[in-house]
Amino acid sequence: MAATIAEIIQARLSRRAALKGIGAGSAFGLFGCSTPGAAPSPGGDGSAPLEFEELGRSTDGTHHVAAGHTAQVLIRQGDPIRRGGPQYRPGRETPAEQEQQFGTDNDFIAYMPLPRGSSSSTRGLLGVNHENHRAALCFPAVQNPADLTREQCEVQMAAQGHSVLAIEKRGNAWRVVDESAANRRISASTGMRIAGPAAGHPRMRTSYDPSGTRVLGTLNNCAGGTTPWGTILSAEENTQLYFAGDAAQGPEAAARRRYNLTGRNLRYEAWSRYFERFDMDQEPNEPNRFGWIVEIDPYDPKSTPVKRTALGRAAHECATAAPSHDGRVAFYSGDDARMEYVYKFVTQDRYDASRPEASRDLLDRGTLYVARFEADGKVRWLPLVHGEGPLTAANGFASQADVVIEARRAGDLVGATPMDRPEDVEADPLTGRVYVVLTYNEQRRPDQLNPANPRPYNRFGHIIEIVPPLVNGKPDHGATVCDWGFFLLGGNPADPSTGARYGGPVSENGWLAAPDNVAFDPKGRIWIATDGQDDWVGFNDTLYGADVSGPDRGITRAFFTGPRGSEICGPAFTPDGTTLFLAVQHPGDEKGSTFDKPATRWPDFRDDLPPRSSVLAITRDDGGEIGG
Ligand code: FEO
Ligand code: CA
Ligand code: CA
Repeated sequence: MAATIAEIIQARLSRRAALKGIGAGSAFGLFGCSTPGAAPSPGGDGSAPLEFEELGRSTDGTHHVAAGHTAQVLIRQGDPIRRGGPQYRPGRETPAEQEQQFGTDNDFIAYMPLPRGSSSSTRGLLGVNHENHRAALCFPAVQNPADLTREQCEVQMAAQGHSVLAIEKRGNAWRVVDESAANRRISASTGMRIAGPAAGHPRMRTSYDPSGTRVLGTLNNCAGGTTPWGTILSAEENTQLYFAGDAAQGPEAAARRRYNLTGRNLRYEAWSRYFERFDMDQEPNEPNRFGWIVEIDPYDPKSTPVKRTALGRAAHECATAAPSHDGRVAFYSGDDARMEYVYKFVTQDRYDASRPEASRDLLDRGTLYVARFEADGKVRWLPLVHGEGPLTAANGFASQADVVIEARRAGDLVGATPMDRPEDVEADPLTGRVYVVLTYNEQRRPDQLNPANPRPYNRFGHIIEIVPPLVNGKPDHGATVCDWGFFLLGGNPADPSTGARYGGPVSENGWLAAPDNVAFDPKGRIWIATDGQDDWVGFNDTLYGADVSGPDRGITRAFFTGPRGSEICGPAFTPDGTTLFLAVQHPGDEKGSTFDKPATRWPDFRDDLPPRSSVLAITRDDGGEIGG
């Protein structure tokens, strides 16, 4: 088996060498944009040299950015989102205050130009996810999450979800337009609609919502995506952390097991004591109403967020759009847990830019697929469609609602490939190639290897590249068979035992571990943020840049390092590439680090303030494009 896997790695890397010669951008350089309004740079194919001086490794309590750049703190956890709103009172905030303040644990960032449909790089809306609330770092003297008061739980509920902020740039400095009516908070209590195949199904009904179409709030909003029609997609990730009770009781018991809904030792252990919807014994179906992709219209502050169940239920990392040659749109998503799958949803109908209102429910009709990576270099996208193959009543799937509610089990039955924790999955807007980020899987045993996950006890992660076929020079994201190869295998290449592979020689500061979120700049270069380097290789999480074409393809270089305990999230560029927004999440989150004695007090470094997740706006001091 080991020799076979080694051969597969070599074969899939050789294929990558062939890609070095592809001038893909020229073939369909004007096709698709990950940033609404973004126009690709002429001739950009992701091969332009990265022009910055690489950073060294860091383990300290603050951030560092490459020389000649400035990282401005745009907004921090607890800052009021509107003028005159309540100021942050660390550890003493009320739920009503937190509802009017920027949330905790910022992750995904969407930059949406203002006005809608423009490509402004100086005025926009920033959509930001708030993934978690860490009681030990946010409240004084917390020993056990089960001990929180009702009011503290309500603060936690208000702190999660999503923020929409109007922002503007004057000179080289950004500010939150705090007088804007667009600014809003979405939380674990915000009313939402449920749409798609699971809407109204009996397994989605609760005592507070007998219709199965209305739900309170969104949870654990990790990464996300944007749509060509100008909405934001927010991914509900680890929603199993919220629901207490005896998971083994009742008709949902088997489905809960497959979603790690144990009901025990929860991060949000106390919630169920005060709110019975988080108690599975009281509300057995409530967990089925989380783990979805949520669509938010940031341009309409009164809009109701919609859970789009056609995209399946998972620990969704993201949902990233890839316009296909025929006008349909694919949305890629990773299910971030060990041995889980990579999905794509392809809309049935075309996106028509001239009729944006017709796109309103495009995400309710289409086909959900799961990926099987084969040793022959093909990835086969297997449809998760009720009635097809094993997805029948005989196997417990009475309708498409059952298929999407139990998408993981459907993936098991059709033979999807178990992956090393799929995080971000993003299509390069210039080439159409799709990058699947596998962060790590230290638990994969040697007898569990497969062609796409070839390293046992993988502590470093890797990135796979999928190449969809071209139709008239444009990528076919609806294709059910694509090519795949390795873009890189993380780890230190100076230590052969890691099995690390890059596109060429990386510097001692340029190799990475635990890749998580990626973004493409307007020249088509990839930027890779990490989450967990501190755990696996002993230095702070970092943002790396790399070319995706040309001689420097796959050679990563360190551009930004975060403060200790943080992960780097949400890389997002303005359409002109002169500003890079980064979300620095959970600074100071280390074992033993608390509100009273944190490992760092980034970004304020004041004795009376704990560390706070914050969004940074990074610009070049000469006003040029990030990366050159
Ligand atoms: Fe929330 Fe998979 O990172
Ligand atoms: Ca992530
Ligand atoms: Ca993560």
